[in-house]
Amino acid sequence: MKKIQISPSILSADFSQLGKEIKKLEDAGADMIHVDVMDGHFVPNLTIGPPVIKALKKNSLLPFDVHLMISPVHKYIESYANAGADIITIHPEATNNLLGSINKIKEFKKKVGISLNPETKIQVVEELLDQIDLILIMSVNPGFGGQKFMPEVLNKVKKLDEIRKNLKLNFVIEIDGGINFENSKLAIKSGADILVSGTTIFKNNNGDIKKNIDLLRSI
Ligand code: DX5
Ligand code: ZN
Repeated sequence: MKKIQISPSILSADFSQLGKEIKKLEDAGADMIHVDVMDGHFVPNLTIGPPVIKALKKNSLLPFDVHLMISPVHKYIESYANAGADIITIHPEATNNLLGSINKIKEFKKKVGISLNPETKIQVVEELLDQIDLILIMSVNPGFGGQKFMPEVLNKVKKLDEIRKNLKLNFVIEIDGGINFENSKLAIKSGADILVSGTTIFKNNNGDIKKNIDLLRSI
């Protein structure tokens, strides 16, 4: 029975209490912390950068699953690695040398993630699947929390699960955007290993984070 991991997105947390919010996630059994970095250029929103990540990292023992929605991304990989990112996930559209950026992340001994937007095809990364640790399937267009889940991306999850079985690859599949207590089951059935969630975890059941994480994890 595979263990489903939960990576709560702090985009939906109380930004005035981020340190405390991360502690709450840790105590509630989160497996990692999903940190959405946005630059107002790759996506029409702006969040946090390396100094804040560095400060938060001191407060938590959990791995930081850092989702870089920034471009150009290559020249910033070092600063996110040094700030304490454990997984660094980039978008193929944000670099003009995807393999070079993958190797740059590896240089800092970090886990490598590639994120596919809803309209980005698997073909963009198919030749590099043996070079990465994680593929992040976006089930919303990146930029904001609280958006509606796009079920059509589940076909990509299924396809990637099939590819990794056939080629005996061991990248994990993470899905991100609009995940709730219903579609989480579809995502898991399709082959997802890690669920990212912001709104569902922070806003449901009167903000009972532990209950929401447990509900998401239960198949
Ligand atoms: C969107 C981010 C997601 C988002 C998830 O660009 O990458 O991680 O914050 O939030 P919900 O679960 O509210 O869709
Ligand atoms: Zn994200």
